[in-house]
Amino acid sequence: MRYKIVTYGCQMNVHESEKIAGLLEGMGGTACADGESADVIVFNTCCIRDNAERRALGNIGVVKAEKKKNPGIIIAVCGCMTQQEGAAEVIRERYPYVDIVLGTRNIFALPGEIEKVKKARAAMKKRSDKRYRAFDTEYAPDYLDRDERTPVTRTSFPNAWVNIIYGCNNFCTYCIVPYVRGRELSRPMDAVLDEVRRCVDGGYKEITLLGQNVNSYGHDLSGGESFERLLRGIDRIDGKFRVRFMTSHPKDLTDGVIDAMACSDKICSNIHLPVQSGSDKVLKDMNRRYTRERYFALTEKLRAAMPDIGITTDVMVGFPTETEEDFADTTDLVRSVRFSNAFTFVYSPRKGTPAAEMPQIPYAVKRRRIGELIKLQNAVTKELSENYVGNVYEVLAEDVSPKHEGMLCGRTESGRLATFPGDAGRIGEFVKVRINEARSASLFGVTED
Ligand code: SAH
Ligand code: SF4
Ligand code: F3S
Repeated sequence: MRYKIVTYGCQMNVHESEKIAGLLEGMGGTACADGESADVIVFNTCCIRDNAERRALGNIGVVKAEKKKNPGIIIAVCGCMTQQEGAAEVIRERYPYVDIVLGTRNIFALPGEIEKVKKARAAMKKRSDKRYRAFDTEYAPDYLDRDERTPVTRTSFPNAWVNIIYGCNNFCTYCIVPYVRGRELSRPMDAVLDEVRRCVDGGYKEITLLGQNVNSYGHDLSGGESFERLLRGIDRIDGKFRVRFMTSHPKDLTDGVIDAMACSDKICSNIHLPVQSGSDKVLKDMNRRYTRERYFALTEKLRAAMPDIGITTDVMVGFPTETEEDFADTTDLVRSVRFSNAFTFVYSPRKGTPAAEMPQIPYAVKRRRIGELIKLQNAVTKELSENYVGNVYEVLAEDVSPKHEGMLCGRTESGRLATFPGDAGRIGEFVKVRINEARSASLFGVTED
């Protein structure tokens, strides 16, 4: 059985695709690159913004032709999109060639459903049995137990993704995630520590802890677990490796976490701290539960504890109540904080969320604001990059450079991308790199060892 997985969305989904791969390999599958020779195609979808959704639906539409050429193919759709209200019905009606639809908390049903589809097809050849299609988007009540037993086929060496908490309880008024990923569920701390230990023993050099809000880790467990305690536990694991985590909600980032980061040489001085807006009014309307002052205070604390820290963020423009003044507050914040990088988004109304019910801002306004914001952040990124030139940094060789032959790329502890000479055999090594040039996409340097 050859399989192909098409992944959309965030790192959570990237890691979930590694679990889908694990499940398929558990039933004898091997990965293949092109859809045409695949026996099973899985679409792991995202619905955070309209364009993510449209892209996934467009590509699911394309496999219709493939199914005509290769009628034996099995097509499965899973991930966040399936969990939206009415989505499974839409797929049932409009995409009749999709065989299996699984929600975000029952992916482990995939092997069983594939077997059922195959069996039903074999039976159809003999008698006139009905075709079997699976639609299962109920949240499995024993999700955490099943998840612990789900195999993982890792595809991102030398980095290993490790989930620590699933779901989200925050209900930011623009966001669909709490509706499609369910309430927060923390994995037991021992299970996380064991997984990290196994990854490090297996040669992984960077562990990235995943959660919609890693800072709320443990509040649903009964032994006083917290993200700070988890970080300190991971720090005690032997070996040379790096730890990163995403995402941190500013309202829950504690002094303890900042201290655990600062005290550890394994936990990188790097944090992704989405601010969304620089306006107190908009933050309130978004239900973010912090103010711009609190955000400034956090970034100051982080920099006082770790002077070289790289702070990245997510910023959104065009939230329904955002006026020109509010947008000016955002650009002011971006100018003052000096993020090493910012992911910028145009607000996209999501059905079923409170903000989608409000009067919306014209697209032309949103487009102008995003253009302005991107221009501003690019200038900040460029300025900060210049500071790296002339210095030596430890870089983890993560991959061959996609653009420059004979070069490798990887990140500094602070999270900046660096490109330097080297061959693929060095991937997974920590390398000393002297930076001699800062271009917009990457720093460039030479190795010192
Ligand atoms: N849990 C993370 C964010 C996950 S979604 C956090 O709270 O920080 C990643 C980013 O997508 C968000 O930070 C936000 O900037 C953006 N986003 C979420 N919903 C959106 C929407 N409806 N329209 C545009 N961008 C959105
Ligand atoms: Fe969405 Fe807010 Fe939860 Fe992040 S914290 S996933 S933005 S609801
Ligand atoms: Fe998208 Fe789901 Fe992640 S909506 S951003 S894949 S949590």
